[in-house]
Amino acid sequence: MSERISDPRLAARTMSAADAAALIENGMTVGMSGFTGSGYPKAVPMALAARIEAEHAAGRPMRVRVWTGASTGPELDGALAKADGIEFRLPYNSDPIARERINRGEMDYLDMHLSQVAPMAWQGFLGPLDVAVVEVTAIRPDGALVPSSSVGNNKTWLDRAKKVILEVNRWQNPALEGMHDIYYGTALPPHRVPIPIVRPDDRIGEPTLSCDPDKIVAIVETDASDRNLPFSPPDATAHAIAGHLIEFLRHEVALGRLPASLLPLQSGVGNIANAVLTGLVDGPFHDLTAYTEVIQDGMLDLLDAGRLRMASATAFSLSPEAALRINAEMDRYRSRMILRPQEISNHPEVIRRLGCIAMNGLIEADIYGNVNSTCVMGSRIQNGIGGSGDFARNAYVSVFMTPSTAKGGAISAIVPQVAHVDHILQDVAVLVTEQGLADLRGLSPRQRASLIIERCAHPAYRDALRDYFDRASRTAYGRHAPSLPGEALSWHQRYIETGSMQPAL
Ligand code: COA
Repeated sequence: MSERISDPRLAARTMSAADAAALIENGMTVGMSGFTGSGYPKAVPMALAARIEAEHAAGRPMRVRVWTGASTGPELDGALAKADGIEFRLPYNSDPIARERINRGEMDYLDMHLSQVAPMAWQGFLGPLDVAVVEVTAIRPDGALVPSSSVGNNKTWLDRAKKVILEVNRWQNPALEGMHDIYYGTALPPHRVPIPIVRPDDRIGEPTLSCDPDKIVAIVETDASDRNLPFSPPDATAHAIAGHLIEFLRHEVALGRLPASLLPLQSGVGNIANAVLTGLVDGPFHDLTAYTEVIQDGMLDLLDAGRLRMASATAFSLSPEAALRINAEMDRYRSRMILRPQEISNHPEVIRRLGCIAMNGLIEADIYGNVNSTCVMGSRIQNGIGGSGDFARNAYVSVFMTPSTAKGGAISAIVPQVAHVDHILQDVAVLVTEQGLADLRGLSPRQRASLIIERCAHPAYRDALRDYFDRASRTAYGRHAPSLPGEALSWHQRYIETGSMQPAL
């Protein structure tokens, strides 16, 4: 019996990934573990993809519906999408092959607020769950499951699925045991009670996951690393964005609107969000905390620099180097980190109570401060809304940040009107680009427009934005948030037709 599987009843169900994958049938809904490249099953999805390819080669249809925590790794989303094995996917994806299939209309994708996935599954709105495939670090003698590097929706998948396949991954450090906080107190209305977290470091649940042993049909042993992409090193643009944001936070402390140790930080996915965290290492703040969705490299830097006291999240989202770093010193990090189910890490009630400072990236914002986080040119999905909506609406202060242009300047990140809305202007308090920062709190739409154009837009697009706002302010049907519907999306149309939002000279 492997030292990682201490329950003899379960050890007897160990089998190969191919045998486990054979238990998954065409059309089934499979709930997989995994959150931003951490803690996803690595062997069964690959074996399933191979089986799907063989079925297709034999002229037989085979596709599955895949639910996860958030994005996963190439062995899961990449392999299954390459095999054309995913019929439907929720709630978040960042895999390039899956993205292409979604954008070609070959794969249905439901992009959801991450805090809402587990409750919706319990409410029955998503349909039945046939199989759960969940990576764990170990199985204890009492059958309790030690979670791995993400928690995501694992508790819900294990509870809801008719059958469970476990991957026990030896690569995950056994010292992870004790880092997790799995809360079993959630219920459906009218039986819901308050989530008893009043500080980011509160532990309210169990260190392990439980699962009815009779449902566990297969256990597969693996020894494979999590796979996250490296972050780009912060460039001048990222440094400038971080600088504006740190200056803003310093100003808020000086005005007494934030305590000196700030409020719990939430930092989104992506390079810019990571760069801002790295920027805080040299900032003036101490004794910081994080109540966030993912722990990225920048968070680790803050912990190591003694700036961050502790971090609560649902997953690691680390570069390969940082994953090795944390894995080598898990004992040291364990006491300063908590990994929770994503319905708790992203719970609107807790975020509102703690007063998080939300900092998220965006695709584009309009002159009124509506934000598009997901759909390039209004229709091409990039990743998904992730937890940005959970945090933005409920934060103490909701910050969105972006370089002022994309694709070498051919695209302005500040446009007359966003081509798709994820965050309405009421949920966007502060907008930051490398050009500057616009504090939009307490401002009307027209006041917001002037500030966003002058502070955040790239100089190459400022005149065109001023001109649009000027004409809209004089001639729009209504002057509350003046817009010219026939022209508002013309910048996007021009990009689609010419490859640039800049008017031809
Ligand atoms: N038009 C077209 N493409 C754009 C764009 C725009 N206005 N803005 C960004 N992009 C592209 C970039 O060119 C880049 O493409 P590439 O990978 O082909 O080079 C890609 O989007 C990522 O942009 P980047 O500038 O590197 O920013 P990022 O890594 O900080 O990511 C988001 C920005 C918006 C994609 C990312 O923050 C995201 O997915 N957010 C939604 C989910 C979220 O906020 N989760 C956090 C909740 S906890």
